[in-house]
Amino acid sequence: MAAPTTTWLITGSSRGIGLETTRQLLQAPSNVVIATCRSPSTAVELQALSEGAKGKLHILPLDTADMSSIDAVLKPVDEILGEGGLDYLLNNAAINVGMDTGFSFSPDDLLRTINVNVAGPGHLAQTLLPLLERGRKKTIMNMTSGLASIALDCGPKCATYSISKTAVNMLTYKQSKARPDFTVICLDPGWVKTEMGGEGAVLEPHESVSSILKVLGSLTLEDSGKFFNRDKGVIPW
Ligand SMILES: NC(=O)c1ccc[n+]([C@@H]2O[C@H](COP(=O)([O-])OP(=O)(O)OC[C@H]3O[C@@H](n4cnc5c(N)ncnc54)[C@H](OP(=O)(O)O)[C@@H]3O)[C@@H](O)[C@H]2O)c1
Repeated sequence: MAAPTTTWLITGSSRGIGLETTRQLLQAPSNVVIATCRSPSTAVELQALSEGAKGKLHILPLDTADMSSIDAVLKPVDEILGEGGLDYLLNNAAINVGMDTGFSFSPDDLLRTINVNVAGPGHLAQTLLPLLERGRKKTIMNMTSGLASIALDCGPKCATYSISKTAVNMLTYKQSKARPDFTVICLDPGWVKTEMGGEGAVLEPHESVSSILKVLGSLTLEDSGKFFNRDKGVIPW
């Protein structure tokens, strides 16, 4: 018997971890992937995945900084999914304005980062909630970072980004408590060679993503509300 279809929506699929996640998910014929990005027409590597995807890849525009763009995605996603609903929402897109500190950050950058990294992902989950309710897995992964942890004591660097990711963690906790029937986690992908992670990072995107997909495949309701690393170790808040 063929495996049941599993449906995924990913943000920030134009490059980096989001692109690699889309690529790996398409290797399983049972997956239908809705890969979103700010500018589908310029996302050439993502467009190239359509060849050979046998109609299982749908590319839609979505800017997590623009709440109307999030609202606009509901109808086309609903039409693609039909009665089955959405199984997994992967809130992957984010920005990092760099090495600022608690005394050198720009308030404008902080607000912009909170918008892209926290308000957008939160609003996307709100918007897609009826579709997630119809899904089998009812799972949301909010991509976070080890830098979000106060307990890990990462020092003064990347204040704006870290503040935003700590807020992502709290969003995850609040979502999990509001919907005990959902599995909502935040996950640190490790230090990955992407535009954000830089060339000095330790992991290739394919290594990080294959671990992340293993974690996602293993999740149960008991995992909801937790902060995981890519090996499913629990990171202290
Ligand atoms: N790489 C690491 O070492 C590392 C470590 C810890 C956590 N993370 C997290 O992992 C996730 C993916 O990071 P990455 O390393 O793949 O970063 P990346 O290479 O910089 O890619 C970021 C992605 O987010 C998209 N994006 C940025 N702003 C957006 C917006 N307003 N709306 C929609 N999409 C937007 C980008 O799209 P455009 O092409 O349109 O700019 C791009 O596809 C992020 O949540 C990041 O915080 C990464």
